[in-house]
Amino acid sequence: MATTHASGVPATLAAHLPTGLLIGGHWQHASGGATFPVRDPATGHELFDVADATPDDGLAALTAAHEAFPAWRATAPRVRAELLRAVYERVMARIDDFAALITAEGGKPLAESRAEVAYGADYVRWYSEQAVRINGLARTAPSGANRQVVLQRGVGPALLITPWNFPLAMATRKIAPALAAGCTVVVKPAGLTPLTTALFAEVVRSELADRGLPTGVVNVVPTSSSSRLSGPMLADPRLRKLSFTGSTEVGRVLLREAAQGVLRTSMELGGNAPFLVFEDADVPAAVEGAVAAKMRNAGQTCVAANRFLVHESVAAEFSAGLADAFDRLVVGPGSAPGVTVGPLIEEAAVERVAEVVAEAVDGGARVATGGDRPDRRALPGHFFNPTVLTDVDPESRAVREEVFGPVAPVVTFGSEDEALDLANSTEFGLVAYAYTRDVSRVFRVAERIESGMLGVNRGMVSDASAPFGGVKSSGLGREGGEAGIEEYLESVYVAL
Ligand code: SIN
Repeated sequence: MATTHASGVPATLAAHLPTGLLIGGHWQHASGGATFPVRDPATGHELFDVADATPDDGLAALTAAHEAFPAWRATAPRVRAELLRAVYERVMARIDDFAALITAEGGKPLAESRAEVAYGADYVRWYSEQAVRINGLARTAPSGANRQVVLQRGVGPALLITPWNFPLAMATRKIAPALAAGCTVVVKPAGLTPLTTALFAEVVRSELADRGLPTGVVNVVPTSSSSRLSGPMLADPRLRKLSFTGSTEVGRVLLREAAQGVLRTSMELGGNAPFLVFEDADVPAAVEGAVAAKMRNAGQTCVAANRFLVHESVAAEFSAGLADAFDRLVVGPGSAPGVTVGPLIEEAAVERVAEVVAEAVDGGARVATGGDRPDRRALPGHFFNPTVLTDVDPESRAVREEVFGPVAPVVTFGSEDEALDLANSTEFGLVAYAYTRDVSRVFRVAERIESGMLGVNRGMVSDASAPFGGVKSSGLGREGGEAGIEEYLESVYVAL
């Protein structure tokens, strides 16, 4: 008897995967009866059919969230906290199921998928602890004119639109603080990877049901066409909050639509992260950090280092070290043993990355390693080889645009001022990385860098307890940490 489905997902899980819409605590077909395919990026093969929500389904999900809201807001914070803690335990107990599903629909190497499960579950644990720390305020006004009580309460039903690259962690980073704050949610997962989010929602649904809590608190509406679904919900006055992770282009459209209802919004948008290596850096450590900052999910993260800005005195050593490290990576299907770099999400992504590399090379860049896709007879899916480009024109697309693939363009600089000018010469400002041994320089960089996050001598900043988010066109608001729950709370000031 087969123990795995063609996707690599355990057969028992594949047979019971929630592939429908979750509305008001019930899994159901889309009202139009339509479905869309979810494909394996390592082969391009169709894996599962998922219900394709219509705009009416979106509104039905909003109705369910709206109806569940009064009871959920009135549920004691301790009860909300205990629910989230139980969900955390259940997700971690099923780490293998979640990891197999993330790899099947998103392509990540299994070890990375397991890391995502732990990272994603950590948001649930963190907000289980924060649910009981939503404190109001009571004081005598400094002027003596009155006594003041400030209540904190959940803003109301929230629409959460999540990206395909972290189908568990980006969902939990929004769902967990929303639930902790007393909000109910409609989740619109990415059409490319909806199943991990659906499985998580099923864990929450069954835990709510087991505890006799309102099951309409979490609703999920996968769709192949986001805009047709979100438009009517954003125009509906029952919706009070929008949280979106995705491109700046789509974020701008959503912000315009959300303006109509003057919605609270959190936007985690595009990045173009500079990775600065100063002349006093520990270069081998910088190479190691660069691999981490660039190659997580084959470069498909908003926090991926996009531009390697390296002092001219260490550029040759850094570039050679990075090319060597990239040569040691193993490209292949995420479920295969020993693979460290999986496929890109779809063929269009491979074509775009190939185009960006070709344009850089036409502009004078040198390929230190990679530069093309692996032999398609061996790897027929959406793969691209880890690539290091040197002598790159700072005006090329490889440097100006978020590449979202395994390409590391190296640009040199001569002084700290020049490095910071280059780093800040973009509309984006999500994260930056800096390698230096000079503590004064660390503070100078932190004070001048135009980004919401800075990794110092490390290639990873993500942490459930930290405020994740950007400045400039990289977004509004913060997710994670104490700040993350504020995004779902409003205050009511009472004067006595
Ligand atoms: C992202 O790519 O948007 C999120 C990455 C992370 O949370 O580390």
